[in-house]
Formats: sequence, structure tokens, C-alpha cells
Amino acid sequence: SFEVVAAKSGKSVQVAEGQTILEALGTLGIKIEVSCEQGVCGTCLCDVLEGEPDHRDVYLTDEEKEANDQILVCCSRAKSKKLVLDI
Ligand code: FES
Repeated sequence: SFEVVAAKSGKSVQVAEGQTILEALGTLGIKIEVSCEQGVCGTCLCDVLEGEPDHRDVYLTDEEKEANDQILVCCSRAKSKKLVLDI
């Protein structure tokens, strides 16, 4: 598991294996707009302030993925123990 911190709301949550960041944020009452929930459409894009995403989507380009400053929270995860999002 890894920790996701929602910087603007000052809340954090552990994301369990088999749970998406989107679902974990939902348990905090933080709602992210989604559409496909499969990493295709880009609707759930969030800015990353700290940490290293484990990109599982097919929306971002390789360059965007390497920049580690955006993440699609419906499907992607974290390589680092902690991910701080600008939400
Ligand atoms: Fe479509 Fe996340 S909801 S990429």
C-alpha cells in the first residue's frame, strides 16, 4: 500500500492493494470527476506535488509520464511510499 495526501484539503489516506486512488479519496469524501475509469479519457487527471506515480494509463505520453507531475487517479498507483496530490 501507499499513502496519498490531498494537499489542498489537508487529508491523507492509505491506498490498499486492489483499491484505486480514486476509491481511497472517496473514503475521505473527496470526489474527482471521472468518465472512463480505465485510464483512457484523461478526465481524472490530477497534479502531483511529491512522490513518484506508477502510471497505468494509456492517456499520458511517455514524456508526460516521465515528468512525474500528473497522474490519472482512476487507475495509476505509486512507486513511492507517499504521493502528494494538488487536490
Ligand atoms: Fe478516464 Fe481516469 S476517468 S482516465
